[in-house]
Amino acid sequence: MKVLIAYSTKYGTTTTCIKRLEKALQGMEVHTVCLEREQPNVRDYDIVLLGGSIYFGRFRPALRQFLKEQHSLLMEKPLGLFWCCGRTEDHEYYGEKHFPKSLRDHAFAHIFFGGTLRIPKSSWIDRFLLHSMRSAILESEINDGEYTPTLPTILLESIDMMATYVREAARRL
Ligand SMILES: Cc1cc2nc3c(=O)[nH]c(=O)nc-3n(C[C@H](O)[C@H](O)[C@H](O)COP(=O)(O)O)c2cc1C
Repeated sequence: MKVLIAYSTKYGTTTTCIKRLEKALQGMEVHTVCLEREQPNVRDYDIVLLGGSIYFGRFRPALRQFLKEQHSLLMEKPLGLFWCCGRTEDHEYYGEKHFPKSLRDHAFAHIFFGGTLRIPKSSWIDRFLLHSMRSAILESEINDGEYTPTLPTILLESIDMMATYVREAARRL
């Protein structure tokens, strides 16, 4: 039983999620591929898990391209979909908008893994945007009368739930 985890990331939050997922899938034959570096052959796997993080309201180009090019093959495989983002209040919108309905209907799981607003060391423009996103959370909580801003975080229980669904899907094969 071969499981492919194919994902896209820029600063590694999704990679952290995938490490947790790999641990939760211990005992299964799991092959993890970062789409920014490699293009896996979906045909080689029994189960496919696919996802990535949101930038400027969209998935990164590698994942968008993979979704487009591999759509028909993905429809033939037991499929789990996941995504990460920093604006957690928008996660449902992203999850619905960016995975085609056909794939969502076909998938055995469609799960938000959370996200972070960790400030990267590199690009100043990304640092600026992340600081703005953090401030927006603070502002909205002050306006709501709350003064303990809650930054987004990785949702460990959602990642573990994906692992449970994968094991169930494997039993059905
Ligand atoms: C330049 C930039 C743009 C971003 N745009 C969005 C966005 O439009 N919506 C959102 O919810 N999160 C946005 N984020 C937050 C990322 O989705 C979040 O930090 C995520 O955890 C990154 O995952 P990764 O490190 O795996 O790429 C943005 C982050 C950066 C740096």
